[in-house]
Amino acid sequence: MLAGRRIVLGVTGGIAAYKAVLLCRMLVDSGAHVIPVMTESAQKFVGQATFDALASEPVRTSIFDDVDPIPHTTLGQTADLIVVAPATARCIGSYASGISDDLLTATLVATRAPVVICPAMHTEMWEHAAIQDNLKTLADRGVIVVPAEEGRLAGGDAGAGRLADPESIFETIKNALSGGDLQGKRVLVTAGGTRESIDPVRYVGNRSTGKQGYALAEAALARGADVTLISTVNLEVSAGVEVVSVESAEQMHEAVFQRADSDVIVMAAAVADFRPADVSNAKIKKDAGPPQLVLEQTEDILSALGKAKRPDQVIVGFAAETEELISHAQQKLQRKNVDVIVANDVSAPKVGFGHETNEVTILEANGGQRHVTLRSKRQIADEVLDTVTRMLSK
Ligand code: CTP
Repeated sequence: MLAGRRIVLGVTGGIAAYKAVLLCRMLVDSGAHVIPVMTESAQKFVGQATFDALASEPVRTSIFDDVDPIPHTTLGQTADLIVVAPATARCIGSYASGISDDLLTATLVATRAPVVICPAMHTEMWEHAAIQDNLKTLADRGVIVVPAEEGRLAGGDAGAGRLADPESIFETIKNALSGGDLQGKRVLVTAGGTRESIDPVRYVGNRSTGKQGYALAEAALARGADVTLISTVNLEVSAGVEVVSVESAEQMHEAVFQRADSDVIVMAAAVADFRPADVSNAKIKKDAGPPQLVLEQTEDILSALGKAKRPDQVIVGFAAETEELISHAQQKLQRKNVDVIVANDVSAPKVGFGHETNEVTILEANGGQRHVTLRSKRQIADEVLDTVTRMLSK
């Protein structure tokens, strides 16, 4: 799919520039023709010689030193795709404002090819309204933004702003060039743990943070789907994803069933199985002593979806287990009449709730079973969607 495709790889000045070397290699290995463009500050982090040795053409750095009198328009016109990884705040700001003050931003402004922007910066900069507004502006114009992740940053800091994994960027590029294997499909994803009210202040909840659901929504978007995310949490997400905020299992049930005709439904949310039978309208005061909580069962959304399932629909559930992972997951697959169960052992290190990574076994109703070793939640999301697209094409 990438063979012979002309990809301009823009590298700007950030510590993550070394990861662009890996991306360059992956693209070249898959047959793409890679033309690196480095900004002046990028050269302070990685030497030109590295990209010269790995890419398909020597590095370009300036509008004026090139043999081509108009390299920015030539590069922009002939590219099948432009990816900028890492993209600094300055580069994003210039591109969003249409300022072409170096070869890379000039090329970005002079192209009609798909553009993939992969931001990387310190947390304070990443969270600044100016950066987020610029990224939204770009996303609204059709630019594909691969959001920064949480992790280690330069100078020993940690937090949001780290460049996405080269593997995720590579997948996004592949999907952008293939038109996306979920093009035209409506994908509904749920994320986060539901909160079941005890009184206006307190709730019964669970440890889910919603990260796997958000990663699924992003991955589906990158593959061309029309994505709706029903979520109990509020995390960073691309502008192309429609987000519906809910809190309780009941609200999630209603929001899901308003969109139950979606082609693909992925129930990644940790829906509460029980809720307080009586919700106090006023805050329960402690003078009266600890209240006795009587719980009642919530409706099982996934089972209800399984009952009403159309043959051309793919329904995916999750199974968060702490023991007998596969047999419990197999039972859920049958009991809930769904096509796929993604099972994870949430008691294992770095797996499940709150982590950036996950390790899963994907079980299919036809008996298929695939173990996916520990990797980022975005990569897990793409593995799940690989299974989904295979089923949709049958
Ligand atoms: N689920 C749901 N509605 C519920 C409970 C769970 O839709 N009221 C969905 C979850 O989103 C997940 C799947 O069912 O996709 C499995 O949830 P889980 O809590 O692991 O399974 P349960 O059926 O609740 O079984 P148990 O708690 O006994 O493991």
